[in-house]
Amino acid sequence: MLVLGVDTSCDETSAAVLSDGRTILSSIVASQAIHAQFGGVVPEYASRAHMQLIVPVVRQALEAAGVEYGQIDAIAVTNRPGLVGCLLVGVSFAKALAYSLDVAIVGVDHIEGHVFAARLAEPDIRLPAVCLIASGGHTELIRVDAWGEYEALGRTRDDAAGEAFDKVGKMLGMTYPAGPEIERKARGGDPTAFAFPRAMMRRGNPDFSFSGLKTAVRYKLDDMGALPEGDELRDFLASFQAAVVDALVIKTMWAVEDSGVPTVTLGGGVAANAALRERLVEDAARLGVSVVIPPRELCTDNGAIIAAVGDALLARGQRDGLALGVSASR
Ligand code: KG4
Ligand code: ZN
Repeated sequence: MLVLGVDTSCDETSAAVLSDGRTILSSIVASQAIHAQFGGVVPEYASRAHMQLIVPVVRQALEAAGVEYGQIDAIAVTNRPGLVGCLLVGVSFAKALAYSLDVAIVGVDHIEGHVFAARLAEPDIRLPAVCLIASGGHTELIRVDAWGEYEALGRTRDDAAGEAFDKVGKMLGMTYPAGPEIERKARGGDPTAFAFPRAMMRRGNPDFSFSGLKTAVRYKLDDMGALPEGDELRDFLASFQAAVVDALVIKTMWAVEDSGVPTVTLGGGVAANAALRERLVEDAARLGVSVVIPPRELCTDNGAIIAAVGDALLARGQRDGLALGVSASR
């Protein structure tokens, strides 16, 4: 069973070929450089870039997998949540290709895709699990009882964790997306040098909030007058990163303890962050639960996680017709 997975929900045009729901034959991700100068994704530019990239990216994914169009059994495409104009490019492309190849098409929830990174990384992962999804648009705690059976435990009340990285990076003159650059420049810094707030840290409240942290960073920068540089910048970024990681991991581990699940996992672009990954491993060990940390390339947006969800949906008999729509929300 060969599934082509396509994702155009935000600013990455991605396609992958997945065999039998497990083996990634290829995964191509084209990041759109156009947004760097704007400090965030400009939806109209993103849609136009998807239009230019979708055909070559899919062609490259097939070539890298050594697969002909005619060998594809089904197409899985992200149809929610995301930027509507962007989703429309992927979904319209997938519909046309599915029609011409006469194969099934299934619409996939992008967030469920991030959850499936854990299954691709560790097919025998022990469920139920608590899964932390931290991306540029979403920050959620999800209980995974079975593949396709989820319970929402908590979510951000305002900014997503990745958005906090991107906005703080913008204040410091970094280009979008700032997460990887902040991680790099924070390396070796003192995470206790600056006292940044961890919001809503009350047990029993599984929601997150990052807008206060963003404001605290803004005020601190105003106080400092000039932008920090050198060691001071390193400490500043390490302290900011620690505030995000603390909030994410402490709340995740509370959810793990309170629900008594044997496994914790994570996904979404921020899950590529080494400080977050290491801290989750440490805290899971302390609690004696097993932890699944998907490889970085499965955490950030990619077509393979979408194909994996599609494969599971198809196995359950799900099919979407050419009337498949898109939605900005879930
Ligand atoms: O999941 P993703 O690729 O796209 C969305 O669905 O949003 O996540 C992108 C987000 C961006 O905010 C980016 O800054 C953040 O993930 N990110 C990181 C790292 N790599 C990507 N944040 C912190 N550390 C990283 N290494
Ligand atoms: Zn994502």
